[in-house]
Amino acid sequence: MTTQQSLEALLTARTSAGEDVPPPAAFVAAATETDDSARERAAADPVGFWGEQAKDLLDWTRPWDETLDESNAPFYRWFKGGGINASTNALDRHVAAGRGDKVAFHWAGEEGETRDVTYAELLDTTERLANVLRSRGIGQGDVVGIFLPMVPEVAAAMLACARIGAIHNVVFGGFSVESVAERMEVSSAKALITAAGARRKGKFAETKKQLDPLLEDSTIETVIVVPIAGDTPLQAPMKEGRDLDFTEAIAAADPHCEPADTDAETPLFILYSSGSTAKPKGILHGTGGYLTGVAWTFRHQFDFKDDDVYFCSADVGWVTGHSYMVYGPLVNGATSVMYEGAPDYPHKGIWWELIERHKATIFYTAPTAIRACMKWGAELIGEHDLSSLRLLGTVGEPINPKAWHWYSEVVGGGRCPIVDTWWQTETGHTMVTTLPGVDDARPGSCGRPLPGVSIEVVDEDGKPVEAGTQGLLTVTKPWPGMLQTLHGDDDRYVSTYFEKFGKDRYFVGDFARLDPDGYLWVIGRADDVIKVSGHRLSTAEVESALVSHPAVAEAAVVGMHDDDTGQAIVAFVTIDGAAEEAGRDQDELIADLREHVAGRIGKLARPKAIHFTPDLPKTRSGKIMRRILRNLVEGKDLGDTSTLKDPAIVDEIAAQVRD
Ligand code: WTA
Repeated sequence: MTTQQSLEALLTARTSAGEDVPPPAAFVAAATETDDSARERAAADPVGFWGEQAKDLLDWTRPWDETLDESNAPFYRWFKGGGINASTNALDRHVAAGRGDKVAFHWAGEEGETRDVTYAELLDTTERLANVLRSRGIGQGDVVGIFLPMVPEVAAAMLACARIGAIHNVVFGGFSVESVAERMEVSSAKALITAAGARRKGKFAETKKQLDPLLEDSTIETVIVVPIAGDTPLQAPMKEGRDLDFTEAIAAADPHCEPADTDAETPLFILYSSGSTAKPKGILHGTGGYLTGVAWTFRHQFDFKDDDVYFCSADVGWVTGHSYMVYGPLVNGATSVMYEGAPDYPHKGIWWELIERHKATIFYTAPTAIRACMKWGAELIGEHDLSSLRLLGTVGEPINPKAWHWYSEVVGGGRCPIVDTWWQTETGHTMVTTLPGVDDARPGSCGRPLPGVSIEVVDEDGKPVEAGTQGLLTVTKPWPGMLQTLHGDDDRYVSTYFEKFGKDRYFVGDFARLDPDGYLWVIGRADDVIKVSGHRLSTAEVESALVSHPAVAEAAVVGMHDDDTGQAIVAFVTIDGAAEEAGRDQDELIADLREHVAGRIGKLARPKAIHFTPDLPKTRSGKIMRRILRNLVEGKDLGDTSTLKDPAIVDEIAAQVRD
């Protein structure tokens, strides 16, 4: 047998065995936590448990008056009255403890550049930038947009906001400039920190130049421009009086910046995420509870030790980047690897090259990425020495057992436990996973609720279902990193998360089941959110982008299972017969529509397939029945079609899909 064949045979045997995988003995021997006492302690007194962790892990300028105030549920208030600043917890205290020379980020650029940024250097840039923001009249409660590639400046930008009590609003670098402008407008951002350009797989985008027309007449009064694309100098057009060059402004700024007197409830950031409507939700996180949750989970789910080198492949523009690239690692004083580029650029072995170069010990990525690496082949990995790795993690979507075993065997060399971390932008930090020195892993399941976290799977009426039965996932007790609200929309916060089952039970939006041992198996989303490569998108957002094209009359978008990306976007479109473009070649129109969506939202939202249909399946009252389309693309039974206005349309669409 070739090596490839024997690997296949091994994976098939392991996957079909479906057995629990205990943590490797050598790992357990060195692990900090090897018994379940934290879960037991927390179960007896969850609020007390989080209070202890908050004291232990963070520096407070004032003690809190109350650990959890539930009097205005579902607006739960953690550590009420406690004084705390996120930037001093992430930076100053490490420098003050003599650890200023420790590397915070080993940065690697797409074209092979490298830069090491120490805690002292990151603090210096943060303080100076905070002073620049202050000099432009930005202070507590103001919103600052951040649209930057994966460069160390992005962490300084976030922490500079935190230092002065401003709220950062980071937009993922893969979103279009239109999405950036929209997110700035709805959050009334006063300033934007961006780069002259961004590089992606050898191509340049002149970000600032593209943004400029959209910033006219906006609420943005200050634009700070990092004069680079990646690490390549690039001069952007600058508007007198509004725009500042990052490098020049930093050089001229006072190096000392007194942190604002922020408290546990000071909003730290807004992160727009997709929900059930076309309008993205501004998920708002506070300071004290959020930091407690990310600090504790980072330390315990990764069995973090001071000499670890941690590599998270997420982009900082998603919540994983916020919690486990910036706040979690920095608050714990960790050294991280930050990679600017795509996993297949400049070559498909770049992650393994970086792990080998920096002797990374912990690697955290998404199942989609693991499946892509599987396709590229185990040989690419064999070329590198990955023996430094001692723990692996995944996040963002369910992992299929075959990919789990491949990750464990090929990347982890059989030495590394895998933590499959379940959480959401809303939860702020991991809620369910295996504690790596304590729990057996059950490939395909994310594990058990973490200490201090309580979940239940319920039916439509909110009644817990029997073990092993699929239902709706809920969280039954407040947890420290929970979102505070949706920015500027308390009503939507309540109606999205606390209307269906009441204010004591947070509605997650996932279908799941709990097995008899309390292990969680996430099936997928129960709402109109699609997960493409682990990235969260709403069907309504893509539909709204499609109908903004002049040729489109109506559109319905659904998610379809995809072996590589987890889910893929499929669009059903009716053409406006009167439109000039109605007579165009269909392939050309499809290409045009895909680009149109990319322009409106970002490339990640481009539909994989577009079907033109004369009409969409609708009820007599005109509501589009996406359920039927979903079943159709998944090859499932269509269900009841008798309520449709025109049941014949389904056959026509089915013929299209099969073509
Ligand atoms: C899904 C990402 C299975 C889930 C951190 C959730 C997962 C949504 C896992 C949140 C996992 C996240 N296993 N499914 N380990 N982690 N999900 O807000 O459907 O981008 O509701 O946060 O991702 O996505 P979000």
